[in-house]
Amino acid sequence: MTVVAIVVGYLLGAISFSYLYGKLVKGIDIREHGSGNAGATNTLRVLGKGPGILVLLLDIAKGIAAVWIARWLGSGEWTPVLAGLAAIVGHNWPIYFGFRGGKGIATTIGVIASLGLLPAALSGAVAIAAIAVTRYVSLGSLLFTGLLPIAILATGRPIEVFWASLLIAVFAFVRHRGNIVKLAKGTENKLGRRA
Ligand code: G3P
Repeated sequence: MTVVAIVVGYLLGAISFSYLYGKLVKGIDIREHGSGNAGATNTLRVLGKGPGILVLLLDIAKGIAAVWIARWLGSGEWTPVLAGLAAIVGHNWPIYFGFRGGKGIATTIGVIASLGLLPAALSGAVAIAAIAVTRYVSLGSLLFTGLLPIAILATGRPIEVFWASLLIAVFAFVRHRGNIVKLAKGTENKLGRRA
Protein backbone atom coordinates (compact mmCIF):
# COMPACT_ATOMS: atom_id res chain seq x y z
CA MET A 1 0.00 0.00 0.00
CA THR A 2 2.95 2.35 0.54
CA VAL A 3 3.75 2.24 -3.18
CA VAL A 4 0.14 3.07 -4.05
CA ALA A 5 0.22 5.98 -1.59
CA ILE A 6 3.44 7.29 -3.15
CA VAL A 7 2.02 7.08 -6.68
CA VAL A 8 -1.24 8.76 -5.61
CA GLY A 9 0.77 11.45 -3.77
CA TYR A 10 2.91 12.14 -6.83
CA LEU A 11 -0.05 12.27 -9.24
CA LEU A 12 -1.93 14.62 -6.89
CA GLY A 13 1.09 16.86 -6.38
CA ALA A 14 1.65 17.03 -10.13
CA ILE A 15 -1.67 18.84 -10.63
CA SER A 16 -0.26 22.31 -11.20
CA PHE A 17 -3.05 24.67 -10.17
CA SER A 18 -1.12 27.79 -11.21
CA TYR A 19 -0.60 26.34 -14.69
CA LEU A 20 -4.24 25.21 -14.95
CA TYR A 21 -5.60 28.56 -13.73
CA GLY A 22 -3.37 30.46 -16.16
CA LYS A 23 -4.28 28.26 -19.11
CA LEU A 24 -7.97 27.66 -18.46
CA VAL A 25 -8.99 31.06 -17.09
CA LYS A 26 -6.51 33.50 -18.67
CA GLY A 27 -5.19 31.57 -21.68
CA ILE A 28 -1.54 32.02 -20.67
CA ASP A 29 1.28 29.71 -19.62
CA ILE A 30 2.26 31.06 -16.17
CA ARG A 31 5.76 29.66 -16.77
CA GLU A 32 6.30 32.23 -19.54
CA HIS A 33 5.52 35.18 -17.27
CA GLY A 34 6.93 36.85 -14.15
CA SER A 35 9.55 34.67 -12.49
CA GLY A 36 8.57 31.75 -14.74
CA ASN A 37 7.65 29.66 -11.71
CA ALA A 38 4.46 27.60 -11.68
CA GLY A 39 3.44 28.55 -8.16
CA ALA A 40 1.21 30.73 -6.00
CA THR A 41 3.70 33.61 -5.64
CA ASN A 42 4.09 33.99 -9.38
CA THR A 43 0.33 33.64 -9.88
CA LEU A 44 -0.14 36.50 -7.41
CA ARG A 45 2.52 38.53 -9.21
CA VAL A 46 1.17 37.93 -12.72
CA LEU A 47 -2.59 37.39 -12.25
CA GLY A 48 -3.40 39.15 -8.99
CA LYS A 49 -4.38 38.53 -5.37
CA GLY A 50 -7.53 36.39 -5.86
CA PRO A 51 -5.93 33.85 -8.22
CA GLY A 52 -2.74 33.85 -6.09
CA ILE A 53 -4.65 33.00 -2.91
CA LEU A 54 -6.76 30.38 -4.71
CA VAL A 55 -3.65 28.64 -6.10
CA LEU A 56 -1.96 28.84 -2.67
CA LEU A 57 -4.93 27.14 -0.98
CA LEU A 58 -5.26 24.46 -3.66
CA ASP A 59 -1.53 23.70 -3.59
CA ILE A 60 -1.66 23.41 0.22
CA ALA A 61 -4.78 21.21 -0.06
CA LYS A 62 -3.12 18.70 -2.38
CA GLY A 63 -0.27 18.28 0.15
CA ILE A 64 -2.80 17.67 2.92
CA ALA A 65 -4.76 15.25 0.73
CA ALA A 66 -1.64 13.24 -0.17
CA VAL A 67 -0.80 12.68 3.51
CA TRP A 68 -4.36 11.85 4.60
CA ILE A 69 -4.99 9.45 1.70
CA ALA A 70 -1.73 7.71 2.64
CA ARG A 71 -2.82 7.46 6.29
CA TRP A 72 -6.04 5.88 5.11
CA LEU A 73 -4.17 3.47 2.82
CA GLY A 74 -1.44 2.31 5.17
CA SER A 75 -0.24 2.13 8.73
CA GLY A 76 2.93 3.51 10.31
CA GLU A 77 4.63 6.86 9.82
CA TRP A 78 6.61 6.11 6.65
CA THR A 79 3.60 5.79 4.31
CA PRO A 80 2.25 9.34 4.85
CA VAL A 81 5.77 10.77 5.02
CA LEU A 82 6.75 9.22 1.66
CA ALA A 83 3.42 10.14 0.05
CA GLY A 84 3.91 13.73 1.21
CA LEU A 85 7.41 13.82 -0.25
CA ALA A 86 6.01 12.38 -3.49
CA ALA A 87 3.42 15.17 -3.65
CA ILE A 88 6.20 17.79 -3.37
CA VAL A 89 8.21 15.99 -6.07
CA GLY A 90 5.06 15.93 -8.22
CA HIS A 91 4.54 19.67 -7.74
CA ASN A 92 8.15 20.43 -8.65
CA TRP A 93 8.42 17.99 -11.55
CA PRO A 94 4.86 17.32 -12.83
CA ILE A 95 4.43 14.49 -15.32
CA TYR A 96 1.40 16.18 -16.91
CA PHE A 97 3.22 19.43 -17.74
CA GLY A 98 6.61 18.43 -19.14
CA PHE A 99 8.16 18.10 -15.66
CA ARG A 100 8.29 21.93 -15.40
CA GLY A 101 6.56 22.79 -12.13
CA GLY A 102 7.02 24.99 -9.10
CA LYS A 103 9.22 25.22 -6.02
CA GLY A 104 7.04 23.14 -3.73
CA ILE A 105 6.53 25.51 -0.81
CA ALA A 106 2.72 25.63 -0.66
CA THR A 107 2.57 21.85 -1.06
CA THR A 108 5.22 21.52 1.66
CA ILE A 109 3.03 23.64 3.97
CA GLY A 110 0.15 21.19 3.46
CA VAL A 111 2.35 18.12 3.90
CA ILE A 112 4.20 19.35 7.00
CA ALA A 113 1.11 20.81 8.65
CA SER A 114 -0.46 17.34 8.32
CA LEU A 115 2.62 15.61 9.74
CA GLY A 116 3.30 18.11 12.53
CA LEU A 117 1.16 21.20 12.98
CA LEU A 118 3.27 22.80 15.73
CA PRO A 119 6.65 22.73 13.92
CA ALA A 120 4.91 23.94 10.75
CA ALA A 121 3.35 26.83 12.68
CA LEU A 122 6.65 27.76 14.39
CA SER A 123 8.66 27.79 11.15
CA GLY A 124 5.75 29.45 9.36
CA ALA A 125 5.61 32.28 11.92
CA VAL A 126 9.30 33.07 11.34
CA ALA A 127 8.79 32.91 7.56
CA ILE A 128 5.75 35.21 7.63
CA ALA A 129 7.59 37.72 9.82
CA ALA A 130 10.56 37.68 7.41
CA ILE A 131 8.27 38.21 4.40
CA ALA A 132 6.41 41.02 6.18
CA VAL A 133 9.68 42.82 6.95
CA THR A 134 11.63 42.21 3.72
CA ARG A 135 8.83 41.57 1.15
CA TYR A 136 10.90 38.64 -0.18
CA VAL A 137 8.68 35.54 -0.42
CA SER A 138 11.65 33.42 -1.45
CA LEU A 139 13.50 34.36 1.75
CA GLY A 140 10.46 33.31 3.76
CA SER A 141 10.28 30.02 1.83
CA LEU A 142 13.96 29.31 2.53
CA LEU A 143 13.61 30.17 6.23
CA PHE A 144 10.46 28.04 6.50
CA THR A 145 12.02 24.94 4.98
CA GLY A 146 15.45 25.52 6.55
CA LEU A 147 13.97 25.79 10.06
CA LEU A 148 11.61 22.83 9.73
CA PRO A 149 14.13 20.10 10.71
CA ILE A 150 15.07 22.04 13.86
CA ALA A 151 11.42 22.73 14.75
CA ILE A 152 10.54 19.06 14.17
CA LEU A 153 13.34 17.85 16.46
CA ALA A 154 12.49 20.47 19.09
CA THR A 155 8.82 19.47 19.18
CA GLY A 156 9.51 15.74 19.33
CA ARG A 157 7.91 14.70 16.07
CA PRO A 158 8.70 11.16 14.78
CA ILE A 159 12.15 10.67 13.28
CA GLU A 160 10.61 9.80 9.89
CA VAL A 161 9.19 13.33 9.71
CA PHE A 162 12.62 14.75 10.58
CA TRP A 163 14.31 12.85 7.72
CA ALA A 164 11.59 14.00 5.34
CA SER A 165 12.06 17.61 6.44
CA LEU A 166 15.78 17.42 5.67
CA LEU A 167 14.99 16.24 2.13
CA ILE A 168 12.32 18.93 1.80
CA ALA A 169 14.90 21.57 2.75
CA VAL A 170 17.26 20.20 0.07
CA PHE A 171 14.45 20.31 -2.54
CA ALA A 172 13.58 23.88 -1.56
CA PHE A 173 17.15 25.18 -1.67
CA VAL A 174 17.80 23.46 -5.03
CA ARG A 175 14.57 24.89 -6.51
CA HIS A 176 15.35 28.37 -5.14
CA ARG A 177 18.95 28.56 -6.37
CA GLY A 178 18.04 31.34 -8.83
CA ASN A 179 16.28 33.24 -6.03
CA ILE A 180 19.31 32.77 -3.73
CA VAL A 181 21.61 34.34 -6.33
CA LYS A 182 19.19 37.26 -6.76
CA LEU A 183 18.83 37.70 -2.98
CA ALA A 184 22.61 37.87 -2.67
CA LYS A 185 22.78 40.46 -5.47
CA GLY A 186 19.84 42.44 -4.10
CA THR A 187 17.87 41.97 -7.33
CA GLU A 188 15.20 39.55 -6.05
CA ASN A 189 11.54 40.46 -6.76
CA LYS A 190 9.73 42.00 -3.82
CA LEU A 191 6.13 41.13 -3.04
CA GLY A 192 3.78 43.60 -4.69
CA ARG A 193 6.17 44.40 -7.51
CA ARG A 194 5.93 43.00 -11.03
CA ALA A 195 8.85 40.86 -12.27
O1 G3P B 1 7.31 29.60 -3.22
C1 G3P B 1 7.95 30.22 -4.28
C2 G3P B 1 8.61 31.47 -3.80
O2 G3P B 1 9.46 31.17 -2.72
C3 G3P B 1 9.38 32.16 -4.87
O3 G3P B 1 8.60 32.29 -6.03
O4 G3P B 1 8.02 33.21 -8.22
O5 G3P B 1 9.32 34.60 -6.60
O6 G3P B 1 10.41 32.66 -7.70
P1 G3P B 1 9.12 33.23 -7.20
